[in-house]
Formats: sequence, structure tokens, C-alpha cells
Amino acid sequence: MLIRSDDSGFIHPRSSEITPRAAYEGRRDMLKLLAGGMAGAALASWAARDALAQATAPGKLAALQGQKSAVPGAQTMEKLTDYKDATSYNNYYEFGTDKGDPVKNAGTLKTRPWTVEVEGLVKKPGKYGIEDLIKLSAQEERIYRLRCVEGWSMVIPWVGYSLAELIKRVEPQGSAKYVEFVTLADPKTMPFVGSRVLDWPYAEGLRMDEAMHPLTLLTFGMYGEVLPNQNGAPVRIVVPWKYGFKSAKSIVKIRFVEKEPGTAWNKAAAQEYGFYSNVNPNVDHPRWSQATERRIGDGSGLFAKRHKTLMFNGYEPQVGQLYAGMDLKKFY
Ligand code: MTE
Repeated sequence: MLIRSDDSGFIHPRSSEITPRAAYEGRRDMLKLLAGGMAGAALASWAARDALAQATAPGKLAALQGQKSAVPGAQTMEKLTDYKDATSYNNYYEFGTDKGDPVKNAGTLKTRPWTVEVEGLVKKPGKYGIEDLIKLSAQEERIYRLRCVEGWSMVIPWVGYSLAELIKRVEPQGSAKYVEFVTLADPKTMPFVGSRVLDWPYAEGLRMDEAMHPLTLLTFGMYGEVLPNQNGAPVRIVVPWKYGFKSAKSIVKIRFVEKEPGTAWNKAAAQEYGFYSNVNPNVDHPRWSQATERRIGDGSGLFAKRHKTLMFNGYEPQVGQLYAGMDLKKFY
């Protein structure tokens, strides 16, 4: 067991498993030294990035820190998106369709007690209380780009562990070919669940090999703290090589199935949002190009800096082989 929880459900990593506070504080001192030109620029930008993560987290939520992940592709030198932007510019349609709605409305989401049911074609189905799920494997910090299909992106330090860790424990049957994620749809606490904008509950799915890929993160926190409600508390997935809408928030069921499951956006507009939804600059959305993206925080409007969108969101070395031989225009 790598982390423990107190009665409130808040989790505290064991001191041996996280960067000790002194080391974090030491980084600030190091930064000063680096600014004085005592080490290389690369090192300076790593330290600056870490310092930024510390400086921008508001410290209001419970700490949830992870070890720096060794999974290939799980670290980046890119500048982190400000915590404030990452937590106030959201898509969480259960709480409204404007980017500013979730931060205003998601306070009603009740994240304790919380149970995730694992069901379907597995040898060991079961119900996991959120505290047990958090403790199931060591928390890691992964810095992923999240690329939304709408053409913007963020760089976020997520905290969680590979979904594969959970999948291995529940022992899928041979007939399980896909994993379906079903999220909370509670009209009492989620004002837009009554609306007809999507077919509730919001559901998503992955092929089994995608779900087992080490980059697929069962996510409990960001910026060293538990997830804010608007970002999908208490548990979501993050699939960094796919458009953001695949990363379902506030999951209550993980179901193993034989056939490709229906997904919220595919049901809403099948010709625009396919099951795979891999980030792909060569396949445009029917109504707009996917060739470039705007990094949130880089400015907006006509003068916003655009970044070239990368195949599989830059994770091609890690995930490209999952799609070998597939026509990605057909399986968009
Ligand atoms: N999950 C649920 N339950 N409901 C949603 O509306 N929106 C998706 C995804 N997960 C959504 C969801 C979309 S469109 C995106 S881009 C990401 O969450 C946004 O995640 P973020 O707000 O943490 O950046």
C-alpha cells in the first residue's frame, strides 16, 4: 500500500514516496541559482516548470502528489498551463455548455462517498470505494498535453496511475474487447443533465489495447492536488493521444464489453466524432481544420499564437503501432 487516507477521505502520500517538502523548497533556491547563470538553460526550464506548478496551485484542495512517472512520453519540457486557466476553462456539459460554467456550477457535485463499479466481462467484478481505488497503485505525476477537438490545448501535470493496473486486477475475460466508461448523471446536482444537448449519462470507450496502454491514465489529481470538481472529480481518465472528449470525467462504472460501445459525442453527431478520435492533423473535422491549435494562456483572438498539431498529439512513438494498417480517415 503506497498511500493512506484519513477519515475525511483525503489522501496523504507517504513521505518516502513523494518529493520531500525540503526538496520542493530547495528547488526555489535552485531556481535563483540557475537564474544567476550557474547551470544550463535546459535545467533551468525544468526547475521553472516545477516552480510554476507549485506557485499556481491554490492550495485549497487536499494534496495528492505523485512520483515523477517513468512511463515513456509522460514528461515534457513544455510550459505548464496556469492552474487558474486549467480549472476555469472547461468542458463539463453536465454543468453547462459555456467554458466558464463548470467552475461556477460544479460545487454541487458530491464526491464522497463515491463508488466505481467494475462490471461486464471480467473474472473479478466489484465495487471500489474511491479511497480504495486511489490506493490500488502508486500515484504518478504525468505531464500531458490535452488537445480538445475544438482547437485548443493545455499542458497539465496530472496525478494518477495507468488504467492497466486496475484492468490487470479485475482479469478481463478473453471475450472482452472494449472498455466502456460511464459517468455520473445526477439531475439533482448536475443542472444540465435534464437538457437534450447530449444523451446522458456521458459515456466513452476505448479498445482493450488502448485501455491497457501505459499512457492511459486513471486520474485522481492535478497540480499536486485532488481533481477540482470541474475537472472531473473524484476520478476521470486522461487519454493523451486522443481528443479531450475521450477523457470522461466523474466515472461511476467501468464496463468490459465485447462490442464497440456507444459514446456520448458519437451518438450526438456520428459524422463529426468517431469512436477512435485520435488527434490527427491530417483528418479535418467536417466543419474546421485540425492542423493547428491554440495553447490556452498564449493569448486569444486573431493574434493568438498557433501551434502545429502533432500526429497522435505528439505521442506517435508510443501509440502509433496500435493503429498500424488502419485507415485513419475511415476510423476517425
Ligand atoms: N466528461 C463528462 N462527464 N462530461 C463532459 O462534458 N467533456 C469532455 C471531457 N470529459 C466532458 C467530459 C471534453 S469535450 C473535454 S475537452 C474534456 O473533458 C475537458 O477536460 P478539462 O475541462 O479538464 O480540460
